[in-house]
Amino acid sequence: MSQRMTLITSPVFISEAHLKKAGSFAALFGNDNPLCLDIGCGIGDFIVQEAKRFPNQNFIAIDIFNQGCSKTCSRIETSGLKNIRMMRIEARYLLHHYLGKDSLETLYINCPDPWPKKRHRKRRLLNEDFLNLALYCLQPGGVLNFTTDFVDYGEATGELLAADTRFSNLHATPYTHELGDYPISKYMRRFLELGQPIYFCRYAKKTGIQIDPPSLQKGFRLRWPKEDA
Ligand SMILES: C[S@@+](CC[C@H](N)C(=O)[O-])C[C@H]1O[C@@H](n2cnc3c(N)ncnc32)[C@H](O)[C@@H]1O
Repeated sequence: MSQRMTLITSPVFISEAHLKKAGSFAALFGNDNPLCLDIGCGIGDFIVQEAKRFPNQNFIAIDIFNQGCSKTCSRIETSGLKNIRMMRIEARYLLHHYLGKDSLETLYINCPDPWPKKRHRKRRLLNEDFLNLALYCLQPGGVLNFTTDFVDYGEATGELLAADTRFSNLHATPYTHELGDYPISKYMRRFLELGQPIYFCRYAKKTGIQIDPPSLQKGFRLRWPKEDA
């Protein structure tokens, strides 16, 4: 599917070339604050709420959808927050190439594409390969947050995480419908308004576990030109 492209010139927008030149996220932010990543940020409403709550953390919002990136940049600029940057980049590509071992304090994945058809489920982001990659990049004690409104995606991810002994469950059950003070994203709001519960998983990486650098998932390929936004 081709995307209508908007040229993004926002100062909070970071191209891959820009990141390479800076050398690190700490250099981009100009400080060593803990790094948090929102994968598939959509229009950026979640990340702006979260970054406001935690001004001493650095937030990277990523999405592959150019229009969403553009809207997120506008939202970040309007917020006046200095602790968020936006990149148009694929999640696994970013984790593999630019986020090293123990580099992330928090990972957010809110309402990822559900791929509801059975034959498409293998395209879902959350699977064992992705968990290995996430664990490698999370620091000990670092937290993975996942939300979805899709029953079987929520149940399957809750089961996958609960069975993985490298994680501690920060909730009492594999997933919960209680969101507490977790900010509501556009998609979460849409489903809550329809009366559909959100499945919320929150797990922390245990300390003292060894994870080999994961290789890119078999069959993984970038589905869009990298440097065109
Ligand atoms: C259903 S929307 C959810 C948006 C937002 N998180 C929310 O809850 O409102 C999923 C988003 O993930 C993005 N996305 C899908 N696969 C991605 C990937 N592999 N890497 C980065 N972003 C991705 C899509 O472009 C889309 O904007």
